[in-house]
Amino acid sequence: MKHNLLEICYLIGSITFIVGLKMMGNAKTARKGNLIAAVGMTIAIVGTIFLHDNEVSGLVYGLIFGAIALGTVIGWFTAKKVQMTKMPELVSMFNGMGGACAALISIIEYNHLQHTMHNPIVGAAIVLSDSMDKLYGVLIAIIAGLIIGTVSFSGSIIAYLKLNGTMAKPIRIPSYNIINTMFMIGVLAFGTYIVFTGGNSTLLYLLFAAAILYGILFTIPIGGADMPVVISLLNSFTGLAAAFGGFLYDNKVMLTGGILVGSAGTLLTLVMCKAMNRPLSNVIFGAFGGGTTSTDSGDQTKGSIKDVNVSDLAILLNYSKKVVIVPGYGLAVAQAQHIIHELELLLEERGVEVKYAIHPVAGRMPGHMNVLLAESNVSYDKLVEMDDINPEFDQTDVVLIVGANDVVNPAAKSDPSSPIYGMPILEVDHAKNIVVNKRSMNAGYAGIDNLLFYNPKCSMFFGDAKKALTNLVAEIKML
Ligand code: TAP
Repeated sequence: MKHNLLEICYLIGSITFIVGLKMMGNAKTARKGNLIAAVGMTIAIVGTIFLHDNEVSGLVYGLIFGAIALGTVIGWFTAKKVQMTKMPELVSMFNGMGGACAALISIIEYNHLQHTMHNPIVGAAIVLSDSMDKLYGVLIAIIAGLIIGTVSFSGSIIAYLKLNGTMAKPIRIPSYNIINTMFMIGVLAFGTYIVFTGGNSTLLYLLFAAAILYGILFTIPIGGADMPVVISLLNSFTGLAAAFGGFLYDNKVMLTGGILVGSAGTLLTLVMCKAMNRPLSNVIFGAFGGGTTSTDSGDQTKGSIKDVNVSDLAILLNYSKKVVIVPGYGLAVAQAQHIIHELELLLEERGVEVKYAIHPVAGRMPGHMNVLLAESNVSYDKLVEMDDINPEFDQTDVVLIVGANDVVNPAAKSDPSSPIYGMPILEVDHAKNIVVNKRSMNAGYAGIDNLLFYNPKCSMFFGDAKKALTNLVAEIKML
């Protein structure tokens, strides 16, 4: 009876994960989807604790609920406090914790298995029966979960340190690709050896240490701009490691959850690579996004830039028929989402058609601009995807670029030597007027100069996005 109830809890959990994930595919239903999946997860956890077959002592219950309370408090406050721009850091830290959990499960279950095998009666019974094949299956799940979970853990911590600026520059030792590949083969061979010989605890801890080192080596050479892709890839690793845990415990909900995280992470990784038009191998072995320095070297062939003042810009926008706003990372940094919405409403009151052009990798995480603009209640139908908005730039009077840089850089189309060459961009140079709001001539995340700023149709509107847009709105109101 208890067992059947537990299976029903797991079934509910699995269904809510799938329904929740489906709902997360749409901005309108994403919040509800997240909540539904969280309820399913709660049912699965509560079911596991109270409907499990084994006898559990009061002390163990105390430890379980103590850990849940501690984790809930830390998770709740961190998630509440985090700024949108710091979200990738938080995701990488949470993902790292998931990888660490999978690795710990493997270590505990390995020791458990060793203990069982060293029991003379049970050990002999296993060897004599056909349970030997099952034993290999369990060992494969343990070792695979350990390697993948540990790589995900240490890789995510490095990703976190890179995103928060502690390890801003990629560290590339000579021939790191060859060294990393050899190291990976070594770790896999070591794991295979343990599976076939049974190994011992010392060897297992050595494998754990080697996998930590591999996770560090794997992530360290990758540039900061590619961290969202790496985090998504490591996220799929964590899902896979959790799925091995599900296999180990014959736990359906863990298996379903792990597979969903693994496949969603893999798909997201591929979608991001496609949006940047770069193969995954180029992200892992390439050298993109190494620096964030300004490349305004004063090259005479670039031409000159021109400024626009707030009054002239107010008049230009007020008397336009169609304005397209291009939001980027700087909009998120400045927290200018509310004032940009106010500008949109004001212009619409004056009869101007206003739309937002959304590049798939604008900002620092997938859907960053959609989430940011949703915070200020910008209507979803105003957000137009890149492929749909590009043909509209020809009929646009003013493109107002706010804190975006790489996603409008024409070098992606015209300069084969550029690290972003091949990335699809918003073709803003087709508009009649281009206005760029940023604080300086500094480069974007890819660390490269942007010739768009020297285009004769382009004017720079310098300043922090929030302050500059506040002044602009005030100026338009006076017209
Ligand atoms: P970026 O190219 O990073 O440019 C952002 C610009 O915002 C900077 O040039 C900066 O110039 C400006 N800025 C910063 N703070 C500002 C403020 N307070 N007010 C006004 N402007 C400010 O941004 P993007 O165009 O959104 O491109 C995203 C980049 O991230 C791409 O390279 C993309 O490939 C990469 N990436 C994104 C993702 C996802 S999923 N989104 C994944 C992988 C990689 P100043 O310092 O001069 O102000």
